Order: sequence, then structure tokens, then C-alpha cells
Amino acid sequence: MRIKRTHYCGSLTKEDLAKKVVVAGWVQSKRDHGGLIFVDLRDRSGIIQVVFDYQKNSHFFNEAEKLRSEYVLAIAGDVKERSPETVNTNLATGEIEIVVEDMDLLNPSNTPPFYIEDGIDTDENLRLKYRYLDLRRFEMQRSLQLRHKTMMVIREYLDKHGFWEIETPMLTRSTPEGARDFLVPSRTSPGSYYALPQSPQLFKQLLMVSSVDKYFQIVRCFRDEDLRSDRQPEFTQIDMEMSFCTMDDVIGEAEGLVESIFKNVLGKEIKVPFQTISYHEAMERFGSDKPDTRFAMEISDISQIAGQSQFKVFKGVVEKGGVVKGLNAKGCGHYSRKELDDLTLQVQLWGTGGLAWMIVTEDGFKTPIAKFFTGEQLDEIKSKLQGEAGDLLLFVGDQWETALKVLGQLRISLAERLKIIPEEKNHFLWVLDFPLLSYDDDEGRYTANHHPFTAPMEDDLSLLTEDPLKVRSRAYDLVYNGVEVAGGSLRIYKKDIQEKIFNLLGMTSEEAEEKFGFFLNAFMYGVPPHGGIAFGLDRLIMLMAGKNSIRDVIAFPKTAGGTCLVTGAPAPVSSSQLEELYIKPISRDNKKDLNADLKSK
Ligand code: AMO
Ligand code: AMP
Repeated sequence: MRIKRTHYCGSLTKEDLAKKVVVAGWVQSKRDHGGLIFVDLRDRSGIIQVVFDYQKNSHFFNEAEKLRSEYVLAIAGDVKERSPETVNTNLATGEIEIVVEDMDLLNPSNTPPFYIEDGIDTDENLRLKYRYLDLRRFEMQRSLQLRHKTMMVIREYLDKHGFWEIETPMLTRSTPEGARDFLVPSRTSPGSYYALPQSPQLFKQLLMVSSVDKYFQIVRCFRDEDLRSDRQPEFTQIDMEMSFCTMDDVIGEAEGLVESIFKNVLGKEIKVPFQTISYHEAMERFGSDKPDTRFAMEISDISQIAGQSQFKVFKGVVEKGGVVKGLNAKGCGHYSRKELDDLTLQVQLWGTGGLAWMIVTEDGFKTPIAKFFTGEQLDEIKSKLQGEAGDLLLFVGDQWETALKVLGQLRISLAERLKIIPEEKNHFLWVLDFPLLSYDDDEGRYTANHHPFTAPMEDDLSLLTEDPLKVRSRAYDLVYNGVEVAGGSLRIYKKDIQEKIFNLLGMTSEEAEEKFGFFLNAFMYGVPPHGGIAFGLDRLIMLMAGKNSIRDVIAFPKTAGGTCLVTGAPAPVSSSQLEELYIKPISRDNKKDLNADLKSK
């Protein structure tokens, strides 16, 4: 560069009037007024107007005429005040401009495939393909900066609180932790594979055995699972672990961290301690283990009335040990038959049989099922759901978990439709007392609700043998505006309990030894009681930035199909690379044949 930058474009103010400055950046726009050319020059800090005046300096005028969007240039000149009628109130630097004395055209640019400005309505795949251009937009720059600042505050907070940042391997061993692993073939051990870590769970626990006492890491995790707006195949965790701690210690550190991030990054005070709710209550009231508590619309139970009614669907459900739950869609009594049918189709897609509805009117109820209930029963239902004229009461009868989950989803979708979610609110909530295990009917075995290293509650230890599904865990999830932003637990630190859990999860002692032998070995050398938590950094930043997708706060994210549109990954590799790894690809058709072969054997 012939001329050396002295200022960022957006940093200039009236205090710089009459100064000679040098700025550099990209052409946002150009307006040619004959003898005067105005160029808005942009860098990451903002935009400044620069003026080429033929009268004052004809030297660069020809070059200036050729400038196009996204050309890169440096200019030197004097900061001048704009005349009152030319002030641009939309621009932070709108009261000043730079009159060009010298210019260095550093690079031309092709016409970009979309405008580099906020709020563009461009196909996301195009933005992802040209991500380096997309990231030039201020709203993306703000997300990157927010993320950077948050990471700085996290490191400072955790350092002050005695946590050491320690890196753990990216090439590790495949262990069943919940999701599918990404595998990396080994060249030096033919037929063997590394796995990319789903989280540093085992290593951080081993660090506790190493007497590290307090560990953290801002770490990439990899999970080969179906993607959604809040899920990426590689994502970042703020991972923490501590020894000789209670659940309150871990929760306290996590709350302190969130408080510090809000204060130092967003300049907002947030009230700690956060509220807590049990898993059971969260499900009963909100139909979700990550309830959005910024609004009410709570779920009610009408199982008893429903069981005594003449409505066969409900009676049948209750007789089979199920429940009937309902919620009040306030003021939705005007919904048309088509809208009600659409809601029914929706809940069927979510996995239940149907949806029953009652519209409360000034003089009773409008509903096809009124005839199955006595007047008293109807009044009782109305009072349970606090129904008023003009309300739509919706009911689902099913097994406990299904009925509640479906109504929980319905609650969110209705609230979005009714626009009753206060977006400015920041609600944090701990969900506690999760059941340790679930039962997988297809596989005929128990599965861990968090991961297999989560400690059961002391009081429930005896239930491990008698009634495993009743055992509660010492796990905690942190929910922020209805999104699970962190999860953790106190860990099992006794070998016999860990082995018992592995057995319940369907692993024989030999299998446990084969898969987790390295881990169980460490249990013979003095494991301290310990526990920890991991935040999903991308989700936290997404919510702090007011975005709907974590893709908007990740510099180079993957598409919903798991591809990177910048590089084209995943991509085929040469046959010699495969040979080196002792891998012989099979086609999709061959894979089907192979599967059929294996089944028939
Ligand atoms: P868990 O699996 O609950 O716990 O993950 C912790 C947090 O990580 C975030 N998260 C994700 N974010 C984006 N994309 C994904 N695919 C994704 N999966 C999870 C969530 C979640 O709350 N080792 C344990 C933590 C522990 O017990 O200390 C763990 O990984 O915000
Ligand atoms: P059916 O007897 O299947 O014709 O259903 C009668 C009404 O009950 C319809 O409005 C269904 O949508 C509704 N319904 C069916 N199954 C359920 C269910 N599990 N929970 C609530 N309503 C249901």
C-alpha cells in the first residue's frame, strides 16, 4: 500500500475535522455528479463518505470514475464538515466527509452476487457459498464481534475463578455417547479408526482424576446427527468440570458466568440465582423439558373428568393409563373449521391420534363433543382452563409423555402465531430432577437421558435394581428463552455404580471393559467426586444476537444437509488416498446388497 492507514472509516467524528487522514476499505456505493464523485467507503467499523472533486484535484478523477462496488482502495484527504443540507442522518459519520487528495486503488472486484448490506432477502445457500462476502455485512460482523467478546469474557471469568484451560484430543476413540460419531481412518493402523469427540466428557473427567480440580475449554464438538436451526455437525461448547463440588457449586459458577457475559458483553444486568423447575413440573405445565417461560399459556389436566365422560376416545386413553391434557388458546374461538382441521393434522404429525376442541361462547360451548359431557363436567373443564367467551380449548389424550410433548409444541406454535412471546425478555431457568434412564422399546434396553456418566440421586440408589425408570439423576439443564443452552451433571465416581449403569444400558462387563476399559481403569486410582457442565456457545450467542439460527453466528457453518458451500466439503478423494487408508468404497447399491447379505446370515 502506497499510503498507510491512520483511521478506521467508522471511527471518524467531528473531533477529527481538519485532520489529514488515511482510510482504506471497500466501495459500498458511488454517486457520480459530473465534477464531483461521492464514494461511500466501508470497513468493519462503518462507512465514511469520500469526495473526489475535479476542481480541487483532477489527478485521480479518471480512476475514481472507474470505481465499482467492492473495489478496495485507500484514500488520503482532509476531514471536512458537510453542509447542513447534505448531512446524512442514517450514517454515524453523516456529518463529515473526506475530500480526497491521494488514492491507491488496491484491487478491483467482480460484481458481488448480492448486495453487501443488512437485512438482505437472499437465498441462504448463495450467502453460504460466498460467505466471505456475506461476512462483510455489518450484521454478520456484529455477530462475529459479539462471539469474540463473549469468548474473551468467558476466559477472563473462568481464569479468575481458578479454572485452567486445557486442550483435549480431537482424534480419539469412538465411545457411545448418544449421537453418531464422525470417524477418521488411520493410515498407520489399517482397519482402525479415530472418532472426532462428541464432547470432551471422558477427558475432562480424567483431568479430575489428574487433580486438575477446575478445568475449562472452549472446544469444538462433532456429532453426526440430523441438523436443525439450532444444531450443527460441528459446534462449540464452553466445557467445564470441577472436583469436590456440590451441584450448587457448578450451578453457581455457571450462573456467575452468564451474569458476567451479560454485564460485560451486553451491558445488561441479569438476576441470579435463576429459577429452577423439576423435569416433571416442566412437562406438566409447559409440555417441554426446555420450557419457554416468557409467557404463560400453561397446560391443564382433565384426565379425571375425561375418564368419567362418555367420550370414547378419552375414556379409552384414561383406561389404558394415559392422560388427557388441554390448553387455552386465548381469543382463538373464531378459528374456522379449516384452521381447526389444520391444527389436528399438525398434532397428528407430532405423533398423537388427534385433537379435540371446544369453543367457549357467551351461552355455552361450540364443540362436536359437547354431547359426551354433562353440563357440570363442561363447567369444570372451563374453569380448569380459565376459559372465557371467545376462547378455544384444545385437548390431547395419549400416554403422559406424548400428550404433554404434543401440547408443548402446540403451545409454542400458537404463541408464535398469536405473537404473545415477549422478545425483549431474557428468561433463564434450571431444569432439575430428570429421570436417569428411559426405556427404548425398539432396542429393548435402557438408555441414558444425559450420558452414561451422570450420577443417580443418592436417595434413589436402591431403585437402580428395583425400578430403574424411577431413578432421578443429578443432572441439570439450563434453558434460555425455551432453548437448552447448557447441560451437565454430577458424575459417578464409584467404579461399582459406573459398572452397574453400563450393565443397565445393555453392556455386558466384557463390552464395558472393551469400550470403556481405559476409563474404568482410572476409577481404581482415586477418583474425586466431581461434576461439570457444558454450554452450547453457538446457541447462547444466537440468542444474545437475537438470531433464529446458529448458522448466523458461526463464521463458516454447514448447510442443513451438512455441506460446506465455501469449500464443497464433503468431497470425493483420490483412489490413492483411499488406498493409503486401506479403504475400498462401495456404491449405494452394493451397500444394500451387503446389508441384505448380513441380514440373511
Ligand atoms: P450436551 O450433549 O447436553 O452435554 O451438550 C451441551 C450443550 O451443547 C449444545 N449442543 C449443540 N449445539 C449445537 N449443535 C449441536 N449439534 C449441539 N448439541 C449440543 C447444547 C447443549 O446444552 N458432555 C456433556 C456436558 C456435561 O455433562 O458436562 C454434553 O456434551 O446447548
Ligand atoms: P374419532 O373418534 O377418531 O373420529 O375422533 C373424534 C374426535 O376426537 C376428532 O375430533 C379427533 O381429532 C379427536 N381425537 C382423536 N384422537 C384424539 C386424541 N388422542 N386426543 C384428542 N383428541 C382426539
